[in-house]
Amino acid sequence: ETLQPFDFILFGGTGDLSIRKLIPSLYFRHCEGQLPEDSRIIATARSDMDTAGFRSMLNTDVREHIDDNDFNADSWKEFLDLVYYHPLDVTDPESYRPLVDTLAGREEYVRVFYLSVAPSLFTQITNGVHAAGLITEKSRVALEKPLGRDRASAEEINDRLSAVFNEDQIYRIDHYLGKETVQNLLALRFGNAFFEPLWRSERINDVQITIAEDLGVEGRGAFYDQTGALRDMVQNHLLQLLVILAMEPPVSIDPDAVRDEKIKVLRALKPLAGIDAIENSVRGQYKAGAYGTGPVPGYLDNDDIPNDSSTETFVAIRAEIGSWRWEGVPFFLRTGKRMESKTTEIVINFKKVPHSIFPTADGFSTPNQLIIRLQPEESIRMRIYVKAWGDDIQLQPVYLNLDFNDVFQKRKMIAYERLLMDVIRGNQTLFMRRDEVAAAWAWIDPIRAAWEQYQYLPKSYTAGTWGPGASNALISKDGLRWNED
Ligand code: BG6
Repeated sequence: ETLQPFDFILFGGTGDLSIRKLIPSLYFRHCEGQLPEDSRIIATARSDMDTAGFRSMLNTDVREHIDDNDFNADSWKEFLDLVYYHPLDVTDPESYRPLVDTLAGREEYVRVFYLSVAPSLFTQITNGVHAAGLITEKSRVALEKPLGRDRASAEEINDRLSAVFNEDQIYRIDHYLGKETVQNLLALRFGNAFFEPLWRSERINDVQITIAEDLGVEGRGAFYDQTGALRDMVQNHLLQLLVILAMEPPVSIDPDAVRDEKIKVLRALKPLAGIDAIENSVRGQYKAGAYGTGPVPGYLDNDDIPNDSSTETFVAIRAEIGSWRWEGVPFFLRTGKRMESKTTEIVINFKKVPHSIFPTADGFSTPNQLIIRLQPEESIRMRIYVKAWGDDIQLQPVYLNLDFNDVFQKRKMIAYERLLMDVIRGNQTLFMRRDEVAAAWAWIDPIRAAWEQYQYLPKSYTAGTWGPGASNALISKDGLRWNED
């Protein structure tokens, strides 16, 4: 399709996410010819500089986040010509003037307000652009998580948003949905006939979803300490992966067809409250440890973290979905900072053969597996048994490997590239609907309440490991182990 020119107004334009991800994503889309001439990217932030100053900042700060192999000096120059900057104090109605002037006469173009700012500013900005008369019929607003701290505060933000935007103008971002492998999960499940009959409790023993990071809180301590891993990662990214994995086939790829199915899974999650929540969850916090590169300080050693903080940097949860498809299948979720490596993967463990006629080296201790890796590399692997080489019959597990790098030999896309273009194109499939956000919080809130009620403090784990021992204990109650390959 041919894209019409658009205006992309980036609040928080000098922020970390803008510099590292959003502006590079727009640059790459420009390289693909998706930023029609006369489109504008208008960044705003508090810093007092002009467009020339902002462009020269991009020349250093953004440029260093673009790999030399993917950089083209001519395209970069063209791209910079599309970028503008206005200083803006979101609390001061007067300071919206320059933005109003820049956008005057461009009402026919799609207009995106992208809020890459602290949630406490969401309402001020939406009210500010509303008061300045900037919201046109073709306007959209895109927001970054966290959307609230619990269900009540999320609903409040949503109420305020819906005072000035219709639901079909609101794009709630979960950048995990922009990752190629997550979309591939949809393709795998609903573009191939042979997974579907296996995708159920009769054939699947358990599911493990891990989002492990090696980084710590990296200068975001003040925010992170108020948030913790449950709100930062589980409520959104982990639940989104679970939902895409577990949802029923939607009738089409239309936004509401997909989101109607996703929300059913969220609603079918068995509630974890009170003692159930304590028995089925593990909280952890990292202490000092080491990587190959050297020692790293503990969470409490960070300058911006109070030294008696009980915020969790690790969570593991055993969840269940009450439905015909999934009854009895445990879904193990875990995420943490300062873990052994940056690894995001979904492991589906299938049931053992009902009757084994072969001797095996490992006694079928690990059954067939489908392992979908999102990070560090994007791959799908299937663990199957074959006959080991030799003149006797012994079985041995091997992997069928699909490495997306080899298949496509393309630059790895930034998750935001797809999402930003979807906002511009007006496709909400990969964005969270209001009721979806509420349903995710409704499952999370009782877990947090139970932690408080039972004064469940995080267990410590050494930086550079796979989390506290209690995480292994949680999964071993089902006679299982976390996947380790
Ligand atoms: C963000 C969290 O949403 O996701 C961060 O706020 C986290 O704490 C990040 O580091 C992880 O994203 P990715 O794409 O690097 O796995």
